[in-house]
Amino acid sequence: MMAMPASIPFFEVENLQQTLGGHAILRGVSLSVPSGKTTVVLGGSGAGKSVLLKHLNGLIRPLSGSIKVKGREISDLTEREMTGIRRTIGVLFQDGALFDSMSIGENIAFPQREAGERDEAKIQHRVAEVLTLVGLSGQEAKMPASLSGGMRKRVSLARAIAIKPECLLYDEPTAGLDPILSESITHLISTMKEELKVTSVVVTHNLGAMRLLADQVIFLKDGEVHYAGSPAGLEESEDESIRNFISADAMGRG
Ligand SMILES: Nc1ncnc2c1ncn2[C@@H]1O[C@H](COP(=O)(O)OP(=O)(O)OP(=O)(O)O)[C@@H](O)[C@H]1O
Ligand SMILES: [Mg+2]
Repeated sequence: MMAMPASIPFFEVENLQQTLGGHAILRGVSLSVPSGKTTVVLGGSGAGKSVLLKHLNGLIRPLSGSIKVKGREISDLTEREMTGIRRTIGVLFQDGALFDSMSIGENIAFPQREAGERDEAKIQHRVAEVLTLVGLSGQEAKMPASLSGGMRKRVSLARAIAIKPECLLYDEPTAGLDPILSESITHLISTMKEELKVTSVVVTHNLGAMRLLADQVIFLKDGEVHYAGSPAGLEESEDESIRNFISADAMGRG
């Protein structure tokens, strides 16, 4: 595979529009996600963060506008063409999205099998390795229904990182976790970036996580990019909706 010039962003979104249930949800979103860096997406509930994230790996196709992955337009790719791109992108969905009929071990093995891995010993070794990373060592046989919300989230994270993707999309990776777990997951995301040079997009309400992780921040409001820039610039912003967001976090979550 040819190395990409450093200047090509991992994702480039231009004037993305989406309407769902008769409502304009994304209203001309443009943003750029640099390779190897962490972009944190903030914004109030309903701002369109999860919908935006689902466009980045082609789960939702744009109504109009352009989405490029490493320079390649993906808006009109077929599902089959999209599969190859999805193999380079790991996703941690907001609700975990585990397969309820499969054990934890099988859930984590699944994307490896999808990616064509046939060596069972290798698969199981990787399952054990990522479970240890998320603090759930030895829990392969458990079923998703028997897990707490926080545990589901960690299994989902383990599944996302199991295939060693080039890029990880995280939707609220720390929501619903206690402060200690929340911090350890934030550090894990940071490690993924430092050690594996993973490109990350992290949707979060957690300003502590933003401070630790963000190279760039996007603040979404009503389906539009309200701020794009450095984390420091966001914290210094005098904009009312940004100030409200920051002070609500300070009161609510510390
Ligand atoms: N499949 C869908 N059909 C209809 N409306 C949808 C669908 N998915 C999302 N929406 C609507 O789009 C808007 C944005 O939703 P989204 O899930 O992206 O918000 P969010 O910013 O992730 O919020 P939260 O912080 O609560 O997760 C909401 O008003 C939601 O009701
Ligand atoms: Mg969401």
